[in-house]
This record gives sequence, C-alpha cells and structure tokens, in this order.
Amino acid sequence: MERQHITILDQHTLALETDAAPEPGMGELLIAVDFAGVNRADVLQRVGLYPVPADASPIMGLEVAGTIVAIGSAVQDWVVGDKVCALVHGGGYANYAIARADHSLPIPSQFDTRSAAALPEALLTVWHNIFTLGALQAGETLLVHGGGSGIGSIAVQLAKSRGARVVATAGGADKCRAVAALGADLVIDYRENRLLEALTDSDLVGRIDVILDTAGGDYVAVNLAAAAPDGRVVCIGAMRGSKAEIDVFPILMKRLILTGSTLRGMGISRRAAGFVDIQREVMPAIEKGGIVPIIDRCFPLAEAMSAHEFMQSGQHLGKLLLDCRG
Ligand SMILES: NC(=O)c1ccc[n+]([C@@H]2O[C@H](COP(=O)([O-])OP(=O)(O)OC[C@H]3O[C@@H](n4cnc5c(N)ncnc54)[C@H](OP(=O)(O)O)[C@@H]3O)[C@@H](O)[C@H]2O)c1
Repeated sequence: MERQHITILDQHTLALETDAAPEPGMGELLIAVDFAGVNRADVLQRVGLYPVPADASPIMGLEVAGTIVAIGSAVQDWVVGDKVCALVHGGGYANYAIARADHSLPIPSQFDTRSAAALPEALLTVWHNIFTLGALQAGETLLVHGGGSGIGSIAVQLAKSRGARVVATAGGADKCRAVAALGADLVIDYRENRLLEALTDSDLVGRIDVILDTAGGDYVAVNLAAAAPDGRVVCIGAMRGSKAEIDVFPILMKRLILTGSTLRGMGISRRAAGFVDIQREVMPAIEKGGIVPIIDRCFPLAEAMSAHEFMQSGQHLGKLLLDCRG
C-alpha cells in the first residue's frame, strides 16, 4: 500500500512524496487518515526549533482522525473499520498513519472525523497540564494565555465545564469576543493592554490559582505576580520567548509551583494514562455537547505549507486541519 506524506525539504519548502505505508507493530493501529491537526509544534519542527525524538517519525503531524485499516498484535478494544482519533508520534501529515491503541479515542457520537481530528493533542495537553500538573479544582481561577489558540479554546471550555472561573488573554477585539463566547469570564486583549495592569484593574493580582502559560518571556514575571498563594504556573510554550528575568520572592512568599511539560517528552505511559483520564473525565462532557472543537479552516494535505503560513500569520481562531483524503 502506498502512502502520501509531507516531507520537509527546507524550512521554507514542503513537498508531497510517496512511499510504502508503515505496518502496525505490537499495540499499534494503522489509520487511513481523513484529517490531521496542524499544531504550533509542527511549525517549530519545520523551522528546526523542535528536534524530533529518536523514536518518532520524522514526518510532521501529531494528531489524526480516520478509519482503522490494520491492527498490530496485542490490540484489544479496536477492530478494522472503527472510526478513531489519535495522538501520533509524528507521521500525521499523511494519508496513512500509525498510532498506539492506548493513545487513541473513539470519535464522539455527534462528531465526524473532521471535528475529531482537532481533539487528541489539545485534550491531552489541556488535561495533563491544567488538571494533572496544575490540579485545577472547581471554584478556582484559571488564567489561560492564548485563549483563542487550538489549545486555549479547549482549555477555556474544559475548565468552565469543570466549574472553574476562567480568565484568558487573546490578541485583538474579535478574538477576545470569540473567547468570551466560549465561556471565559474575562478576556484581556494582550496587544492593547499591559497585562499586569489589566489584571490589577480587575483585582486579579494574587488571585489566580492555575496559569496555563503558552507565552513565556516577559509574561513569566506577570504570572508570578498574578498567582495566588499556593498557585501553580504550568509552562507549555514560549510565544514571547524562552528567556525570562524573574524575582524569586513571589515563589517563596506564595509557595508557588512552577512546572511544565511537552507531550513528546511525557513518555508513552503518561500519555496513555492521560487518555484513560480523558475517556473517564472529559468524553462525557464532549458527548453532552459541552466542549466543541473550534476549527478555523482546513487545507488540502498538499498545501501544508499554506496552513503553516496561515498559522504563523496569527489570524486563525482555534485549530487548523489538513484534509488527507485522496
Ligand atoms: N508543551 C506542550 O505539550 C504543548 C502542546 C501543544 C501546544 N503547546 C504550545 O501551546 C501554544 C498554542 O499552541 P497551538 O498549537 O494551539 O498554536 P496556535 O493556535 O497557533 O496558538 C498560538 C497562540 O499564541 C498566542 N500568541 C502569539 N504571539 C503571542 C505573543 N507575542 N504574546 C502572547 N501570546 C501570543 C496567540 O494569540 P493570538 O492569536 O490571540 O494573538 C495564540 O493564542 C504554543 O505555544 C504551543 O507551542 C505546547
């Protein structure tokens, strides 16, 4: 069976190439991909800022949805023909992709594969960082940097569905309105306002229990000021830079926890445990319609470079997808 996939020729050039489709190994599924998610990590990989782990496919793409066409040994609960969405260890920008069975989710009943392709990476990132590392509880306040991103749009909805108060940042009035419509209690336009001043004006300094930080840079110091006593700051990105100068006293005085993670660095068993939690804790809310993936637009697989350029332009709200059907 032939596979079409996207190869990185250089940081400005992607090409559609053909090779043999991979075969599923033990515990793995081969998925005929309908749609693949485009993530910021793919852009970083293309420009050489996100080294591919030694055991991962060098092909970009971290999540897919489609139909199972072959199953490796020791796989239970899945059969050929099942519709599935899955986190993949690279290789998503293709019409066939390998996923671990324990990194896969059934497609929620009201969704098609287009909507479902937007779920695995965002759900696991949000679940692991906000609820496992950040231990957000009902009644607590969450600050999400980048509430209009693929990650942030799920974070806002999931935190609200679990009873948290949600403050988000977004760039521009339209995105702020859209993030508020997702349920955020307060959205701050970070382009129009100095963030610490805006948080001060809203009496939020020292009152944020959990911060999902996709920004880094100068916002790390803002996070430390904004955090409540015993607050948890979870770093998952560095859109404002990876270097920060901070005052350590807020960490001491408020007993803050600074942590972070990458999905790729979590390891197989932690990712699988995250999906078990998601099945139990999140899928019921999705089935009830409480959490909906926000999809901005979908590009043909062969136009993956246009999808990256659009993501880099920052115009999108929610997720971008690739249509990988032939
Ligand atoms: N560690 C992990 O495991 C993990 C997993 C997934 C994603 N991430 C990270 O999460 C972030 C979102 O990923 P995504 O795939 O959802 O990408 P995305 O949709 O492209 O989102 C990028 C976000 O960054 C915001 N942003 C851009 N420049 C900014 C700036 N100078 N200051 C503040 N915010 C800025 C954008 O806000 P506006 O568009 O509103 O301006 C947007 O919300 C990225 O940093 C990504 O690396 C980490």
